[in-house]
Amino acid sequence: MNPEKIETAFSLMEEAITTIERSLDTSFFDAYIENAENLVDDAKVRVIDQTPDKKTVAKIEALYQDILQLDLQKEEWRKLTQLLLLHGSKKEGLQPNHQLTPDSIGFLFVFLIEQLSQTKELRIFDPAVGMGNLLLTVVIGLQQAGYHAQGIGVDIDDTLLAIAAANGALMAETLQLFHQDSLHDLLVDPVEIAMGDLPVGYYPNDEQAEKFITHAEKEHSYAHHLLLEQSMHYVKPAGYGLFLVPSNFLETEQGPLLEKWLGKKVYLQGIIQLPDELFQSEHSRKSILLLQNTGADAKQVDKVLLVKLPTLKEPAKVSSFFKEFEDWKSSNL
Ligand SMILES: C[S@@+](CC[C@H](N)C(=O)[O-])C[C@H]1O[C@@H](n2cnc3c(N)ncnc32)[C@H](O)[C@@H]1O
Repeated sequence: MNPEKIETAFSLMEEAITTIERSLDTSFFDAYIENAENLVDDAKVRVIDQTPDKKTVAKIEALYQDILQLDLQKEEWRKLTQLLLLHGSKKEGLQPNHQLTPDSIGFLFVFLIEQLSQTKELRIFDPAVGMGNLLLTVVIGLQQAGYHAQGIGVDIDDTLLAIAAANGALMAETLQLFHQDSLHDLLVDPVEIAMGDLPVGYYPNDEQAEKFITHAEKEHSYAHHLLLEQSMHYVKPAGYGLFLVPSNFLETEQGPLLEKWLGKKVYLQGIIQLPDELFQSEHSRKSILLLQNTGADAKQVDKVLLVKLPTLKEPAKVSSFFKEFEDWKSSNL
């Protein structure tokens, strides 16, 4: 990937989005969606009630021609959309539970899914797809590694989901997306892999929460616990779940409720603690939880993988983690 090409594309796209933002008097994210939809719609600016005006339309469409001339490839589009959305998130002060998952974590997910998969046909389900960066990083990464991967995503927030849809269209990637609360019944056929960067906090709908083993009796339940349980309902027998959760997930007040669920229909096979450098405070540190559904070929591993990744910045240390994972897998799974 050529960094200069991405830099040029970034400034062209940023100028187009900012021009739309001013002209429609809207937020960065709404302008981002409008811009992406215009690009997909033959690079023509949508005009409603003579807005944007002709001069602005001409300016934006000229920017579109320059962007198209760059002939960006799928992964280049993804990198570009990630940079633009990170820029927009800073500008708009997006809350942590809505922020996109950086591709450094997505690339780790790709490695783990490749290690765990028995087939080249993979349906990947993300119950908290947000702006879709994690799902698109994983799907495109797997495709580049020779898999036929299809992404399915659900999110409760319509703006974030519209961004995911617009990004999928820019990358010519057909995602199956649903706008709804993932803790209600889903129209998702069983998948090989469920994964996600789960929202952390309380789920306000107690009546709905009661349908899950992990619900709390005396207060609102943890949304991420319920989402873990719900996601694994949509995974095939012996299929895997990979989820980003707070590193202290078992030590919290509701941790025992999660333990009540684990071991029944789902095995906890591993916990990979992510490097401290990725998080601003001790409190915000996260780990990847590796779950496996019960099923003919599945069993609780003798030795649960417990590993802390020291850094993602030193290739030798990342390779040594890959080796450790492969060794663990061959003697345990
Ligand atoms: C950390 S973000 C996910 C970021 C995403 N991986 C990405 O790369 O853009 C968590 C997401 O969970 C969504 N969410 C929260 N509660 C939900 C629910 N009950 N059902 C579906 N989505 C939910 C939020 O709207 C948010 O988009």
